[in-house]
Amino acid sequence: MVFKSLEILHNLGAIIDDIDLSNTLSDKDILEIKDLFFNKHILVFKNQNLSEEEQLKFTENFGNLEIYPEFDKTNDSSKTYHVANVSQDGKHLTDNDEMSLYQKVNQRWHTDSSYRFTPSYASLLYGIEVLPDSAEGGETEFVNMFKVYENLEEPLKLKLESLHMVHYYEFGRRLFPELPPISTYEKKNVPPVSHPLIRLHPDRNNEKSLFFTANAGNQIGGMSQKEGEDLHKSLVDIVSKSPYRYKHRWQKGDLVMWDNKCLLHRAIPYDMNQYRRVFRRTTVAGLGAIKGPFLDPAKL
Ligand code: OGA
Ligand code: MN
Repeated sequence: MVFKSLEILHNLGAIIDDIDLSNTLSDKDILEIKDLFFNKHILVFKNQNLSEEEQLKFTENFGNLEIYPEFDKTNDSSKTYHVANVSQDGKHLTDNDEMSLYQKVNQRWHTDSSYRFTPSYASLLYGIEVLPDSAEGGETEFVNMFKVYENLEEPLKLKLESLHMVHYYEFGRRLFPELPPISTYEKKNVPPVSHPLIRLHPDRNNEKSLFFTANAGNQIGGMSQKEGEDLHKSLVDIVSKSPYRYKHRWQKGDLVMWDNKCLLHRAIPYDMNQYRRVFRRTTVAGLGAIKGPFLDPAKL
């Protein structure tokens, strides 16, 4: 397997254009992909032609599939997520259709399933219908949260050390109150959770990254609502201005795999009434609770 690094990305991301993922891959190829993924966080596989089954099979190489109890993701299958402004039977939906509004929730910085006790590990998004080159927007943007953390001012790092953010699926309904309320089933299966704002990575020598999302809440435990929202807003600003971002312009047949543990991502807005955009997402479940820093009382 030969790959090209996306050099503009500060060591974030690699393009792989000589592998057909619909084939059964050798153990050696899988190991190479895993290794590259660990180091680059985003892999862009070009020119793929994948059925749902083939995409699921490739995804299973990286762990257990995430199952979706949420209604917006379970139109057909509970293992693939139809990311589109087009219905499953091919009808182009308007920008105020429920399905389109769910996509708009993705236009805020996030990692997938941050509102679960165990957020996702990796997401694999496959481009079925993409915007023409002439269209504005429609990219997916990523940011490296190790780099964001590393570049925070020291007093802010210290302030974040003991804090948690509250993540909840229902927050999307606050953003778009015209959506129907979440069901009792969803409330039961995806209750609010809290995660540390600084994430330790035990598989990387406890390296630290900043961990928050802007599509699943804006409240910080232990702070007043206003104080928490102000802090949250300042973190969104920092990420939006970070130089450690990569915007992926989609071509049909791209399969982009990203590491939700290390990155945030968001969809870039586009004219939903004019353009069709259809993706299929499969997701590898995370392995356990997110670990925060152990507090050193001397530092408080
Ligand atoms: C997702 C997502 C981004 C996009 O499917 O999880 O955030 O550009 N998609 O559609
Ligand atoms: Mn997402």
